[in-house]
Amino acid sequence: MAPISSIRQPIIDYLVDPSKVAPIDQGQDVIQGLTLQQKTIPPHYLYDRLGSQLFEEICGLPEYYPTRTETSILQTSAPKLAQITGNCQLIELGSGSSTKTRLIIEAYQKAGYSLAYVPVDVSTNILTESAQSLLLNYPFLEVHGLVGNYYLALKNLPDNNLDSRLVCFLGSTLGNFDPKECDYFFNQVMTVLKPGDYFLLGVDLQKPMPILEAAYNDAQGITAAFNLNILQHLNWRFAGNFNLTNFKHQAFFNPEQSQIEMHLVSLGQQEVRLEKLDLTITLAAGETIQTEISRKFSLQYLQDYLQKQGLKSHTVWTDNDQWFALLLTQATNQSDPMLNNTFKAPQD
Ligand code: AVJ
Repeated sequence: MAPISSIRQPIIDYLVDPSKVAPIDQGQDVIQGLTLQQKTIPPHYLYDRLGSQLFEEICGLPEYYPTRTETSILQTSAPKLAQITGNCQLIELGSGSSTKTRLIIEAYQKAGYSLAYVPVDVSTNILTESAQSLLLNYPFLEVHGLVGNYYLALKNLPDNNLDSRLVCFLGSTLGNFDPKECDYFFNQVMTVLKPGDYFLLGVDLQKPMPILEAAYNDAQGITAAFNLNILQHLNWRFAGNFNLTNFKHQAFFNPEQSQIEMHLVSLGQQEVRLEKLDLTITLAAGETIQTEISRKFSLQYLQDYLQKQGLKSHTVWTDNDQWFALLLTQATNQSDPMLNNTFKAPQD
């Protein structure tokens, strides 16, 4: 048994101190979304404690193919990834429980390369717990976590003396961004990559509609519970009075935008009050609140898009059905100067 003092602790920077955020700033994004023509709630509100647990459950559902497909792709591609990058600083945006990342970490360990891991997540609990457990499991690993949103994290990355930097964004979280936020996201990512540095992206691909729709309408109703929980979260955070029995989960594929949309349908005419936001909204019977988009990409579209952002394709890994893809790209020295990045990040 090692003495307590020799147990390594991860370095963790808290980029947002909740006590320093003016209460008035909190929930502005909720007010903004709920006063639009199509009412929306920003998807990050899906991930409170219960929401994160339900999401972990979703990942194991038979209908929800993305997690297991991405995991199987990583099993074969991680050793190749290690060979390509060599010693590197690995920055993971939205690291969550870092379950899939272990496959990457183990590949670098086997290959004998150094790895400095920088997990980034908005959830303090999940980040701290997984960082500690990674240090115990992988003595060769350096861990320096950042608690905060992606944009704040990219502005506060620890220095890197290793050969290269690898930013990874897994789980098709990119699909939650509309095209404008995508542009802004890549604009920010490019500010931390030198020519030759790597960006690894996991994305969900287009496939027959029944498969897509089943993945968001599972038989056990876990996705429905996950979706409805967003209202419970708002009730708790903003002293709201959403009655969950007055809403129904709805998820469908929108072929024009090539995206799954999750909504909550109001089962009748109703009024809802969020006391701490001093906000009252009215909903007509059948009116919906959109809670998430999950875009489904074509490989060609994505590669062209990434190229325009200054990321040229290095290797594409996919499964036999081409349901999911991992794209390894490399920063070139220029991005398209004609790109306009008009999206303004919240809390940026
Ligand atoms: C974590 C955003 C990739 O879009 O599939 C799962 C979230 N929503 N079931 C997705 C989600 C409903 C998931 N992402």
